Amino acid sequence: MAGKIPQQFIDELLARVDIVDLIDASVPLKKAGRNHSACCPFHDEKTPSFTVSQDKQFYHCFGCGAHGTAIGFLMEYERLDFLDAVRDLAAHVGMEIPQGSYSANSAQNDSKPLYELMQQVANFYRQQLKEHPRGSEAINYLKVRSLNGETAAEFGLGYAPPGWDTLQKKLCRDNDNTQALSTTGMLIKKDNGGHYDRFRERIMFPIRDSRGRVIGFGGRVLDDGTPKYLNSPETPLFHKGQALYGLFEARQANRNISRLLIVEGYMDVVMLAQHDIRYAVATLGTATTAEHLELMFRTTSEVVFCFDGDRAGREAANRALENTLPVMQAGRQARFLFLPDGEDPDSLVQKEGKAALETRISAAAPLSTHLYEHLAKQVDMSSIDGQARLVELIRPHLNKLPSGVFKHMMITRLAGLVRMEERSLSHLLSNNERGTANTAPPHNPRPRGNNQSKQPSLVRQAITLLLNTPSLGQLKTEPQRFASLNAPGITLLIELLEMLRTSPHLTTGAVLERWREREEGRYLAKLVRQENLVPNEHQEQEFYDLLQQLHRQHRTQRIEFLCNKPTTEHSDAEKLELQRLLKEKSGI
Ligand code: CTP
Ligand code: MN
Repeated sequence: MAGKIPQQFIDELLARVDIVDLIDASVPLKKAGRNHSACCPFHDEKTPSFTVSQDKQFYHCFGCGAHGTAIGFLMEYERLDFLDAVRDLAAHVGMEIPQGSYSANSAQNDSKPLYELMQQVANFYRQQLKEHPRGSEAINYLKVRSLNGETAAEFGLGYAPPGWDTLQKKLCRDNDNTQALSTTGMLIKKDNGGHYDRFRERIMFPIRDSRGRVIGFGGRVLDDGTPKYLNSPETPLFHKGQALYGLFEARQANRNISRLLIVEGYMDVVMLAQHDIRYAVATLGTATTAEHLELMFRTTSEVVFCFDGDRAGREAANRALENTLPVMQAGRQARFLFLPDGEDPDSLVQKEGKAALETRISAAAPLSTHLYEHLAKQVDMSSIDGQARLVELIRPHLNKLPSGVFKHMMITRLAGLVRMEERSLSHLLSNNERGTANTAPPHNPRPRGNNQSKQPSLVRQAITLLLNTPSLGQLKTEPQRFASLNAPGITLLIELLEMLRTSPHLTTGAVLERWREREEGRYLAKLVRQENLVPNEHQEQEFYDLLQQLHRQHRTQRIEFLCNKPTTEHSDAEKLELQRLLKEKSGI
């Protein structure tokens, strides 16, 4: 989709924006050597590990690993999608997104009306709660559930009246309009071509995105009807796996959120807020995804899962655990709270009040404790067999953790539990990792993680140098001389060289932006973050040398290949090539 905004426009936009100014406006930066730095806005820290490079037009946090370009910063910090970030930046430097490009058509002419329409729908339902003859039943229902008017208003609760076409009659003016309402999931298409209202006779909970725009609804029946809750389907605006009910409201209520509580239901979020616990969010009838977690960890450094005490709650906790492990970077905390059987946060906060519930929240088990206790229960820890079994059980979980302090501490803890020396345990865990873990895909040029002591490959060195100093692409390099070299990452290097030959003035950030939608983009970003060890004045020479070496490597490979082939099978071209290569090699 990014492809629809002309690349040239993005290049030019990034050339006009200065990432240091941009970030400094929200996160005051201090000059530190060649770079600028600050305490990272994406995780909690006391000493600055967030750095912004003016040369590269790129930011990176050594603490939490956050990184990106000016566009990426807006996306992360302001929680914008790509098109909105581009639009904001463009407005900032007075550029206009070219007419006819995706963003002009789609985001401005398609999505914006959809958001406006959803706001109209929300207004309509809110008004119906007060004005519809049956609205009093809905208000009464809320009263019985002890929800007050103020909270209902804060969350924009409404009422979808009975009838198959109430919303339709109110909002459909023409065909386009009907189509749009159907796109947002508010109308359902009938087989014979007409439409009917999706939500009827329900209390309506508007779901807002992190900028406060209504993207979907949850609707609850007033009685024992089924389904108890009906949610908007997936639409261009609403993606269940990424939406968190209550996040916008929580951010409105707190400038800084020190922790977020994940609960199961709409009513839980709303009732907690009424009791002044204004940091609860709910997933919408789905398990917590890694995307949900990333979204939460952008707002806070601590996430507390809240589960029912029953079996279903425990199962949900296990699923949540699985999804949480991969995102546990330094500085992030996750904890697990189990409620007494038969209670949910809505009922419990009404029964025992804010203070008692917050005591429970504060005492919730950290992820590590939860994991070890949960697994230790499955084995007999007093026997050696049982301890060995614990190591086996825990291995797949540990393998999901990103390397870093947290993983290290988890291993230390396991070593204590099974009374094993930490080094032998680490060794044991990593030895077995290879057999079981399905690691990098084969086309991924990334070398295995624990090869760090080895010199990086020539291709990797060349890519790193080129990325950090894109102007090297201006040098006359003849990449076709080694294009068919058999080495991981060679196509990526060639692509970079070709690209920079035509656009040598791109900054590192602008280069990375071209890879936004591609898997290799992440690999490239990782190389940028590595300290550039080659001094400026030697970069050209170093780069030439690397390309020379690649060329020689290619020559050796070709000679080997041709010599291994019976001479009778050589084509004329191959004969000439072999002669030329041998001559070249011996320096004649
Ligand atoms: N849910 C859903 N579809 C259903 C039932 C539940 O999407 N048919 C989701 C809703 O997000 C709901 C959450 O799961 O808020 C929890 O459901 P449940 O525990 O059944 O209800 P409560 O939250 O306790 O709702 P209430 O207190 O209104 O009965
Ligand atoms: Mn409930």
